[in-house]
Amino acid sequence: GKTIVITGSSSGIGAEVARLARFHGATIIGVDRNDPMVTVDGFVKADLSDPSAIDAAIAQLPQQIDGLVNTAGVPGTADRDLVAKVNYLGLRHLTEGLVSRMPKGASIVNFASILGAEWPKRLDQHKTLAATESFADGLAWLANNPVPQETCYQYFKEALIVWTAKRSFSLFMQNDIRMNSVAPGPVFTPILGDFVTMLGEERVKRDAGLMKRPALADEIAGPTVFLLSDAARWVTGVNLPIDGGLNAVFI
Ligand code: NAI
Repeated sequence: GKTIVITGSSSGIGAEVARLARFHGATIIGVDRNDPMVTVDGFVKADLSDPSAIDAAIAQLPQQIDGLVNTAGVPGTADRDLVAKVNYLGLRHLTEGLVSRMPKGASIVNFASILGAEWPKRLDQHKTLAATESFADGLAWLANNPVPQETCYQYFKEALIVWTAKRSFSLFMQNDIRMNSVAPGPVFTPILGDFVTMLGEERVKRDAGLMKRPALADEIAGPTVFLLSDAARWVTGVNLPIDGGLNAVFI
């Protein structure tokens, strides 16, 4: 079986990905700041906003990792620096720290959002940020190019989509490692209430209403587990919407 590391495994979508991948026979190692709520085979408690805590977590993770699912994230109601660190800089730091433990065919899935759909509008910025080489360099770049609090969640989901695409190319060329992002629409998890605070009830109700309802977490887990599997071995560098068609409404 495969060994899959899942961040954000103690709630919502991450917990559901853990459950489904484990059902399919994978060994699941969870990483979260909170204790697990579903069965996992191993667990590392870590604050994924802090690069030294991430390094300490890396030291406790297995030597061979076949899959990495970066689900941990905070909403835009959190401070913009925390959003930058958890949703983007820390995610990159963890991923780069684990790449050398991944065999050929390994798969990485990064959790973006439909709220990252406008990445082409700021492509140059996102490419420049993607080219920064470390957590500290990224933080320094952001100090000179501050992101407004009101749109920080969207900004770092956009940045994640662009980094995933750019970095996926070298990962596949060098070692047959695949990396994709997924972009859920509204999903019934604890974070949904924060999106209502962030965007207003009207907007969230409109989006969810267009698709009849928010997704259930297992409707997000299914395509994620597909991307982890060998059935997806020629799929890399893409951003997969998982939103009941919400993205198509805006075309
Ligand atoms: P959730 O709030 O249920 O779970 C997030 C998990 O991340 C929690 O277990 C939390 O403890 C962990 N986490 C947050 N900050 C952390 C830190 N500093 N260190 C370690 N762990 C930390 O949220 P949900 O819905 O499961 O979201 C998962 C991902 O999907 C997030 O990246 C979110 O932005 C994204 N997403 C969610 C949508 C939704 O409607 N639920 C829609 C689109 C994207």
